[in-house]
Amino acid sequence: MRFTFFRVLAGFSLMSACSLSETAIDPAHMPLDPHSYADPTEAVVTHLSLNITSVDFDAHVLQALATLTFDCQKADTLRLDTYGLDIQDVRATGEGFGEAVLRFAAGRQDDILGTELLIFPEEPVTGSYTVTIWYKTSPDAKALQWLRPEQTNGKTKPFLFTQSQAILARTWIPLQDSPGIRFTYEARVQAPEGLMAVMSASNPQAVSEDSRYYFEMKQPIPSYLMALAVGDLRFQATGPRTGVYAESAILEASAWEFGETEALIQAAEALYGPYQWERYDLLVLPPSFPFGGMENPRLTFLTPTVIAGDRSLVALIAHELAHSWSGNLVTNATWNDFWINEGFTVYFENRIMEAVYGADYAAMLQSLSHSDLTAEVADFMENAPDDTKLGIDLSGRNPDDGVTTIAYDKGFHFLRLIEYTVGREAFDGFLKDYFASYTFQSMTTERFIAHLKVSLLSDAQWEGIGGDQWVYGTGLPANCPVVEPAFFTAVDAEAARFLSDGTLPTETDTWNTHQWLRFFKALDGLQDESAHALDKAFHFTQSRNSEIFTAWAVLATQGGLVQTELDAQIERFLIRVGRRKFLSPIYQALVEADRKDLAISIYQKARPGYHAVAQETLDKLLGVEG
Ligand code: BES
Ligand code: ZN
Repeated sequence: MRFTFFRVLAGFSLMSACSLSETAIDPAHMPLDPHSYADPTEAVVTHLSLNITSVDFDAHVLQALATLTFDCQKADTLRLDTYGLDIQDVRATGEGFGEAVLRFAAGRQDDILGTELLIFPEEPVTGSYTVTIWYKTSPDAKALQWLRPEQTNGKTKPFLFTQSQAILARTWIPLQDSPGIRFTYEARVQAPEGLMAVMSASNPQAVSEDSRYYFEMKQPIPSYLMALAVGDLRFQATGPRTGVYAESAILEASAWEFGETEALIQAAEALYGPYQWERYDLLVLPPSFPFGGMENPRLTFLTPTVIAGDRSLVALIAHELAHSWSGNLVTNATWNDFWINEGFTVYFENRIMEAVYGADYAAMLQSLSHSDLTAEVADFMENAPDDTKLGIDLSGRNPDDGVTTIAYDKGFHFLRLIEYTVGREAFDGFLKDYFASYTFQSMTTERFIAHLKVSLLSDAQWEGIGGDQWVYGTGLPANCPVVEPAFFTAVDAEAARFLSDGTLPTETDTWNTHQWLRFFKALDGLQDESAHALDKAFHFTQSRNSEIFTAWAVLATQGGLVQTELDAQIERFLIRVGRRKFLSPIYQALVEADRKDLAISIYQKARPGYHAVAQETLDKLLGVEG
């Protein structure tokens, strides 16, 4: 943190007194968050009023005022999370304070957590207290990706988007950046002329003439769901409460691809209760977006790489939509409880897909989840077995280390096992009640298990399924459920035939993306001549389906296939697309095939176009200095 006006010299007592009466959050379920400097027993933010007065695409800086309302317990210090923010001024702005200038200082400091911002009220405060912070973001704020016009679809206007999860909100807003603390918000954004601004809140549907935008989020949300995008966006409705925001060039295709969103919402509601956020819109971002999707409330952020032209990748919408319950209503208390968000969401996603596209379709997704899981568990068991625990301890580490198939797929399979154990009807009743009972609350692994044991599973059942082993043990227990999807029977037979005598698969015209992914998995260990023959017949190297292209590039590279055309397509893809799920396996395959030189030469060209979170992962993978 840099201080423009350094108001604090030295000699403050940083101790703070506090009495423990009732707080806005329930301290019994508020474990210490190892990834935040906030102390919710002293004060919690209950409302944010954000005013972004300038979005500077030349300097890559946001200039803003954040007005935070705290609920305090005789606090003499307010502690916020910041990372690289330039704090210019802090004032008490609540009624009766007459804009008193407050002293502030930098407190603790850490590479992962950033800088603690200490604000000193004039005297210890109890109850509601409001401060306004004038600040600027740093040009390398990790949550912000500033895109040049060439990096967009339209190629004429710049684009900005944020990615706050897990602990990056603090790089663009000073706040208590902990998933256990929830607040409502309103925001004003002054955008550059002609650009539309959208947020995880109520949104405009047209470009504003004066480029000013106003947003409101009336339900309390955790900070990691703060989101903003500014660009040459247009809106197209896809239903009464659904629609798509995208650049004009891809608006039509996006609206078609995601035209079934309302059906997904209805399936979700039929399972686990009403959708609580009024509208559900999608924002299709430029291809450098580092994730598949991000469940920003009311406005899921999406990679354009799921626009396959055949709706074959809409499970991702089901996933982000499911977070409107698992994650956005009932929220992981800390990043150690990440599986509470993601494991439940993959389970819920699968149930939505089953309801809309049938049990055979959902079984394919489950089976692919299972194979990803077994591969990653095997890998981790060699290098970092503790990282295979659902109940992981990420203190002192970057919470991004917990973003693995364990939280997602081990979490999912654990819940599926519980479903099989008690029967679907009982499990659905339990889940519906869980979302209703814990709405707008945080959930720890322990709190969930206690609830599970009281409401659903007998001790004997918990022991019978090896519950403790699943949650606190390493590896994948032997009773992990496995399915044999009917859709994969023919695929496996074709793969086996091809491997044994080189016969090319037939009747592949009806195969969907998931079947091709299964086919590639079944060909693990394929050698270069066979890969070449396959590609001659099916032209995977030219595929515009990002999932198929990635799986193919990995398989062919692992098999030692070296071809100018494949190299050129890999380079083209890695430069255009920034989705980490695709980047890591392709770069990794190149490294393992002794082609690190190529990997690094492509990375040097591609890196400036990647989001900070993708850069961090790949710098590590390729041993490049950031
Ligand atoms: N919330 C996650 C993305 C995320 C997790 C961002 C942790 C930062 C830190 C999102 O819901 C997600 O899981 N995305 C997946 C989608 C997939 C599992 C369907 C992705 O991006 O690949
Ligand atoms: Zn998710």
